[in-house]
Amino acid sequence: YSLKLYNTFGIEAKAKYFVDVSTINDLRKVLVFRRQKDLPILFIGGGSNMLFVDNFPGIVLKLNLKGIEILKEDNDYVYVKSQGSENWHHFVEWTLEHDFGGLENLSLIPGNVGTAPMQNIGAYGVEVKDYIVEVQTLELETGNERIFTNEECHFGYRESIFKNELRGKYVLVAVTFKLTKQNHQLHVDYGAIKTELDSEQIINPTIQDISRAVIKIRESKLPDPSQIGNSGSFFKNPVISNDEFAEIEKNHPQIAHYKTDSGIKLAAGWLIEQAGWKGKRFGDAGVHDKQALVLVNYGNATGKEIYDLSEQIIEDVKAKYGVTLEREVNIIK
Ligand code: EPU
Repeated sequence: YSLKLYNTFGIEAKAKYFVDVSTINDLRKVLVFRRQKDLPILFIGGGSNMLFVDNFPGIVLKLNLKGIEILKEDNDYVYVKSQGSENWHHFVEWTLEHDFGGLENLSLIPGNVGTAPMQNIGAYGVEVKDYIVEVQTLELETGNERIFTNEECHFGYRESIFKNELRGKYVLVAVTFKLTKQNHQLHVDYGAIKTELDSEQIINPTIQDISRAVIKIRESKLPDPSQIGNSGSFFKNPVISNDEFAEIEKNHPQIAHYKTDSGIKLAAGWLIEQAGWKGKRFGDAGVHDKQALVLVNYGNATGKEIYDLSEQIIEDVKAKYGVTLEREVNIIK
């Protein structure tokens, strides 16, 4: 069964079984089948954060759990629960139509609601973890429901317990968010947002203005997966210690960086661009010409070709800067 249409990289890979599931009951049935046959299983949401480097020898399960509901609200806050298969941006638009604040900086991120907590999606100064109350899951082994509180998700920069300790053990079926109904906390410090709002002469932006600004910035830098296959940032921005940074800065005084609580975060896009990779193309695999952190499939690249390109970039950046880049995208073998 071809997976080409189910991953935003547009990689041709095949699954032994493919199932489309629209209810929790059907999901439980597939989990029983998987246990009986002892097959690997892969959940596919928007398919926006995975690279297939080979065919998948088990079940690929496409979840189709839809619905958005308001659980409770007072004057200031609202608790909104979205089923995991809602398209992320569609959900953000829904919150903006209701004038619920919090997710506006996360506009236009590809993928589904259910995959947002996996990698703690983030952009323009906001991470989704700051708005998540809890995540509803099913345990693969037992089919039992389990709710993870925000704290239990162990969120970090593009990290969560679901990508680490509990990788492959739970499927995320719904997420509850706490959003503001008034006194929205705006995040406009990110340089590009300020510049965009200034250029439109917006002084007191609404959450809808911020969303529009973010959409403009993303559209100008990030390739649309429906036009050119990609998975957003392929690598994470590496965080290094102050001492390590001091060493690198000696030789590279221009290096793009930000201070964080855990050390100095480097702009991986800068490292890759300076190393000479931006806009490079090898067959149909390439490095995006407007954002070097994004690897692209111009049509018929294989997952292996994209992976090999990422490997070369990692080695080259390591040789030139002494920094090891980590992949952000899930590699499926
Ligand atoms: N830069 C370059 N060359 C490039 C790209 C970036 O020199 O080709 C340098 C510039 O100095 C620029 C800085 O890197 O000012 C930051 O670039 P940008 O604002 O594009 O953000 P980023 O750090 O490259 C991160 C996220 C993006 C997110 C943006 C905006 C990661 C891995 N990526 O990219 O997230 O949209 O910030 O907040 O943290 C994603 O995760 O898929 C993703 C797209």
